[in-house]
Amino acid sequence: MFYYPDELIEEIRLNSDLVEIVSEYLRLEKRGAGYFGLCPFHREKTPSFYVEPVKQLYYCFGCNNGGNVFHFIMNIENLDFPEALRFLAERAGINLPEPDDTKEQHKSRLRKEIMEVNREAARFYYSCLTGDIGRMAQRYLFERGLSRNIIKRFGLGYSPGEWDALTKHLLSKGYSEATLVEAGLCIKNKNGKLYDRFRGRVMFPIFDIRGNVVAFGGRVLDDKLPKYINSPETLVYSKGRELFGMHIAKKNIEKKILVVEGYMDVIALHQAGIPYAVASLGTALTNMQSRILKKYADEIIISYDTDSAGKKATERGLEVLGRLGCRVKVLQMPDGKDPDEYIRKNGPEKFKNLADRALSLLEYRIKQLKDEFPQDSIDGKMAFLNGAADILAEQDNIVEREIVMKSISRDYNISFDALLAETNRRISRKKRMEKSKEFATAKKELTGSIRPSSFDRKKGMRRRYEMMLISLLSRENHLFREASERYPLSCFSDGTIRETAGILYRRLSEGNDFLLEEFITKLNADTASEIIHLVKSSCNFENPEKAMDDIITKLEVIKLEEEKKDILMHLKNITDMDEKKQLELKLQSVIEKIRMSKQI
Ligand code: GTP
Ligand code: MN
Repeated sequence: MFYYPDELIEEIRLNSDLVEIVSEYLRLEKRGAGYFGLCPFHREKTPSFYVEPVKQLYYCFGCNNGGNVFHFIMNIENLDFPEALRFLAERAGINLPEPDDTKEQHKSRLRKEIMEVNREAARFYYSCLTGDIGRMAQRYLFERGLSRNIIKRFGLGYSPGEWDALTKHLLSKGYSEATLVEAGLCIKNKNGKLYDRFRGRVMFPIFDIRGNVVAFGGRVLDDKLPKYINSPETLVYSKGRELFGMHIAKKNIEKKILVVEGYMDVIALHQAGIPYAVASLGTALTNMQSRILKKYADEIIISYDTDSAGKKATERGLEVLGRLGCRVKVLQMPDGKDPDEYIRKNGPEKFKNLADRALSLLEYRIKQLKDEFPQDSIDGKMAFLNGAADILAEQDNIVEREIVMKSISRDYNISFDALLAETNRRISRKKRMEKSKEFATAKKELTGSIRPSSFDRKKGMRRRYEMMLISLLSRENHLFREASERYPLSCFSDGTIRETAGILYRRLSEGNDFLLEEFITKLNADTASEIIHLVKSSCNFENPEKAMDDIITKLEVIKLEEEKKDILMHLKNITDMDEKKQLELKLQSVIEKIRMSKQI
């Protein structure tokens, strides 16, 4: 499972600052020695996700997910370990050699080939568009107001109407049939013959952020359905990861990005002098897309359709971007037009004016609320007032809060004082709740070395102490010799736990350091979470020597008690008097040992 040398894995870990990386996904606030934020792995309103900057570990007190930077990336990006390693290596600028795994090598070769064949296809489509065969398509684009220049900048093209124009072209260039299919450009029919996926359509190449052609969208020239066809997901394309136009928008010096729905909107906007427009390709913003946006922009303006699907997508976008701590605005186009239509009708200047007046998140929420509750009844007004106070209380910026409150009281004819009082009531309640939460967290951290044994259930108790021993040794390597003499590897329970202990014991017996933060790289997400959980919640090991002694003594007692139970079971079924006597003696000595251990 691990293709890479430990030193390289560790180098990548050390070059991937957990606080910095987590901050790309959620907003962290410093509290004491660590950082807290809203956990990305479960829903919550108050932060219980904790990042420990020195040890580079994270832990959620709410859902018990925990680990180091590798587990974080594996969980949040849904990657396996080698993928997470590659992800972080790229981020850190560390060169990761191709793994010694033929399957991986094959994949990586195929990836390169697909990008190459995609680029060749884009060239082919472009030459079709600009040649005779594309005269209709060209006219279509000109009629929609696109210039020759913008067509070239976006590399638009035309796919001829025949069944296999592209297939023939690419095969003649020497690409294999398998590559064409893997790239999603061609489809195999029942008889095993290839035909083109895109026929008779205007072609929009989709570039990744580095400018590679990773996929295509194709639009009909008339009203036929489906209006658009897109490439399927391939080794190089996952639609939740790309943003159409991002390879250009990322260069914008203003550090803002406008997110719209369609290809045509992006292109029209770029032509109108708004080179920071991107499209999320017919889906609501994903986590990954939001992260890219956050990286390149300080301000993100969402401009989706105002129909119900568009509103839903706007809400979802606001949620993911808000989670990341992005500054977000919403731009609603008048009369249900999309940006492309609006610009065609009113010109670029009018659009820019509109964009400058995009609504802040707070203003947008209030506006939604107004649409929801008609203002012509007392009930409607009360519901609006309460809802508005809820929204206002969430807003931390006092200045903006007050400006919005003033405009609400003016626009909706609601008493400013009433609104202020309602809002303040909610703010103090929120503060009280945060205090008590903080207290609970602090209490958890302060728990003593080992929880009292009355907590322990017979079953699972041994496992729990074994895990404690593992956590302790990973933090206090110098105790290994003594620990392994009293509790050798063979004593550990079968299964994962012995495997886990084995990883630690092997490394430590070689005389090398193996601290918790590195050790857990080797563990799967569940085991890592469990270890971090123990470290955070049950053991603070202020006196590690004593903790070790306590834990091992506990384990010894557990073992003796199991022995005792076994003997008692045996005794019931034994008839031979001699044997019985022997067992009774043994039982006595075990009971004595247990008594001794408990006294210590
Ligand atoms: P025009 O009609 O050319 O102006 O297109 P548009 O970009 O305004 O498209 P629209 O607002 O209808 O849809 C927005 C985006 O959703 C498009 O750019 C496509 O990415 C996607 N989309 C629209 N229709 C379809 C379809 O029929 N199939 C698929 N797969 N995607 C579509
Ligand atoms: Mn449109």
